[in-house]
Amino acid sequence: EKGNHRHFMAKEIHEQPEVVGRTLAHYVDLARSRIALPDALPFEFARLSRLSIAACGTAYYAGLVAKYWFETLARLPVEIDVASEARYREPPLDRDGLTLVISQSGETADTLASLRYAKAQGQHTLAVVNVPTSTIAREASAIVPTLAGPEIGVASTKAFSCQLTVLLCLAIVAGRARGTLSAERERELVDALITVPGLMAEATKREGEIEVLAREVSKARDVLYLGRGTSYPMALEGALKLKEISYIHAEGYAAGELKHGPIALIDESVPVIVIAPHDAIFEKTVSNMQEVAARGGRIILIGDAKGAAAAGLETLATVTMPDCDAVVAPIVYAVPIQLIAYHTAVFMGKDVDQPRNLAKSVTVE
Ligand code: F6R
Repeated sequence: EKGNHRHFMAKEIHEQPEVVGRTLAHYVDLARSRIALPDALPFEFARLSRLSIAACGTAYYAGLVAKYWFETLARLPVEIDVASEARYREPPLDRDGLTLVISQSGETADTLASLRYAKAQGQHTLAVVNVPTSTIAREASAIVPTLAGPEIGVASTKAFSCQLTVLLCLAIVAGRARGTLSAERERELVDALITVPGLMAEATKREGEIEVLAREVSKARDVLYLGRGTSYPMALEGALKLKEISYIHAEGYAAGELKHGPIALIDESVPVIVIAPHDAIFEKTVSNMQEVAARGGRIILIGDAKGAAAAGLETLATVTMPDCDAVVAPIVYAVPIQLIAYHTAVFMGKDVDQPRNLAKSVTVE
């Protein structure tokens, strides 16, 4: 049931503080400020040579964010591929590697095929999955469930933020096991994680402004999304969400790639949405924003107050996000990119819960 929301997508966006909170409650030992997985894993993170991730669509972008987390927090080498490529490329997989698949439905054909391929290669397999009775959940050697509850809207929202939450918990566990994450840093990260539901609720309060800027976005034929670090996969996800429900052509780019091609597209008709929390590489993103502004591009900045002030740029709109530890920012910043897509599509009169040509579960390749 949609409750008092117009669409399932709106309900699911607004449910995120609750379901991310529920997911965290499952994985966080609050008394000890540490992550505690409820079930033992059938492999040791300390002994892994490599993590190979396969997933499709939004779940793939969650995996791309997780690559940054596993590499920085656990110094674990990660390769990641869309499952439709991983399955046919037949990558060499060592026995002391782990394959991680990510899927909301647990039925996506290509993701399942990648899982089966890894098993056939003798690898341990782990699935981050939302439907615990699904085929992927049954076939993986272990699962770490997201507790998002049933997701009805075709565009994935709450499953994505719960995937990110679980993946960050896993990366923290891996960092501890591999001796690359101090107990103190783990405590800080856990403290940051438990503030996330509240920060997401805070982010939903920007909805009124987002509704206004969505009217501008709805006039565009093309939209660019830019970000660096973990904000790069978030830019890819923002563009996917926008194109799938509003049918506006949108592309996500690593901000540093701007001058290698996409800058040619910039003029006053192309809104450029920049995801830029005030993190260690923020200054680099600011210089990309200056390049956009110098070419008449209209910037929509999603960042925090400190960053917006430091950037000192004229923007078409700024969505001011609450301050948060840069590591957890992707989970919080999922909210505004979903709301931008949602309000743009609603304003254009599109069927946001049932976008044309798309199915909720892609069980054929
Ligand atoms: C986008 C979207 C799709 C799915 C993809 C994978 O909003 O929903 O890109 O993320 O089809 O589906 P699952 O997670 O069920 O494997």
